[in-house]
Amino acid sequence: MIKLVFFAGSSRSDSLNKRLAKAAATAAKSATRGVPNGPEVETTFIDLADFDIPMFNGDLEHELGKPVDVVKLKAMLADCDGIFIASPEYNGAYTGLLKNTVDWMSRNIGGQEITPFKDATIAICSASPGPRGGLASLSPLRLLLSHIGSMVIPSQAAFGGATFNDDGSLKDEKQQKLLDAVLTNLIKTAKALKS
Ligand SMILES: Cc1cc2nc3c(=O)[nH]c(=O)nc-3n(C[C@H](O)[C@H](O)[C@H](O)COP(=O)(O)O)c2cc1C
Repeated sequence: MIKLVFFAGSSRSDSLNKRLAKAAATAAKSATRGVPNGPEVETTFIDLADFDIPMFNGDLEHELGKPVDVVKLKAMLADCDGIFIASPEYNGAYTGLLKNTVDWMSRNIGGQEITPFKDATIAICSASPGPRGGLASLSPLRLLLSHIGSMVIPSQAAFGGATFNDDGSLKDEKQQKLLDAVLTNLIKTAKALKS
């Protein structure tokens, strides 16, 4: 069994990237159907809007120690074999929300020795209403995650003008196939690296 967690770098209620993360969570369950020795896949979608995580500040960390939702999110991200991140593009890079989340997750606070992105197997994708699909956010995100020890798989995709069916899948079949290919690679890599 391979456990995957999906989340987006946007807390907006109508976020395209949340929809992409949800579409990926659904598609991942069948991504290895028909693949010889393809593992079963369990998926969890996380909405960062459900976590009360303040903007990182060293004084705050000193004062608060372990914000409850930081501990909760760390535990959820650590308890999986692979992570899928849907990253919106803000001004040619990833969002402040995503960076703030990564910063909190990278801290060993109050003896909680879990840094869930270190050694994690991660796939990154992006979606936007524009034609380039938020592609410019992916290179800086890859660099950031690599810097903190994540294994970011080479396969990635940017979904321009992404629209979704009622069942949550991408309307454009070519885009859905691209997403499926990223997911198959994420699952294969997560399985190979699972200790
Ligand atoms: C502050 C800000 C900066 C943005 N910068 C870019 C950009 O550089 N390139 C781009 O294609 N879209 C840009 N956008 C548009 C976002 O990609 C678009 O709003 C996207 O839907 C946001 O992701 P979400 O739907 O998951 O919230 C920007 C949006 C905001 C709010």
